[in-house]
Amino acid sequence: MDNRPIGFLDSGVGGLTVVREFMRQLPHERVIFVGDQARAPYGPRPAEQIRAYTWEMVQFLLTKDVKMIVLACNTATSVVWEDIKAKLDIPVLGVILPGASAAIKSTKSGKVGVLGTQMTITSDIYRKKIQALSPETEVTSLVCPRFVPLVESNEMHSSLAKKVVYETLKPLKGKVDTLVLGCTHYPLLRPIIQNAMGPGVKLIDSGAETARDISVLLNYFEINAAREAIRSNHEFYTTASPEAFQGIAESWLGQRIEVERVTL
Ligand code: DGL
Repeated sequence: MDNRPIGFLDSGVGGLTVVREFMRQLPHERVIFVGDQARAPYGPRPAEQIRAYTWEMVQFLLTKDVKMIVLACNTATSVVWEDIKAKLDIPVLGVILPGASAAIKSTKSGKVGVLGTQMTITSDIYRKKIQALSPETEVTSLVCPRFVPLVESNEMHSSLAKKVVYETLKPLKGKVDTLVLGCTHYPLLRPIIQNAMGPGVKLIDSGAETARDISVLLNYFEINAAREAIRSNHEFYTTASPEAFQGIAESWLGQRIEVERVTL
């Protein structure tokens, strides 16, 4: 048993898609979340910057005495997960392997699409991970540079969002039966993405898949919080406006939360 919290990080609100699923599955675990909204989006940044910024968030989470760290960001996972995992003595999870495995299980046609940020797609990490497990699966990747700004500005229900998503996804329409949402911001656009692709396409939320793996790891290392532990409050931090973060976070998580601004 270990009643310490679990640390989650992302460039912004996207990581909350992992947190929401995690809280649903393991409501007695405590969450510390940090989002680097002042420097989001990470996707178009050079790898060295993404590496440095992610390490800053990791150092911040370590000051909170976390028992595990989840990189709730595909972009950070593609650049720096291996390095962080090798250097820390607590478990560190990324979001890419769980999404890749789920895509292999889901596809019937053997044709999988992957949506992601500039860095995630350039790294080609989803294709490599998917084909390492299933070489015959065809992977078509697509950069969606306009999705994260739409989510961060809370415009995911707007007509602009619909237009952008429909236009961006055109090249994949009719070509895949499974589509990986390879950025944790994208599940916030899920209804529009599903409509654009049509009902026959299965969407894989890499964050939700990761939440399941967190539970497996907690069991494996025997570091679950005691079920009878009095649940103290979750903590949410952002490097930008707490009010903007809170608006999106409370409607997505369906609960009141406190948000503090932090300087990394
Ligand atoms: N949510 C992140 C991801 O999963 C990062 C998006 C960004 O900041 O570009 O890739």
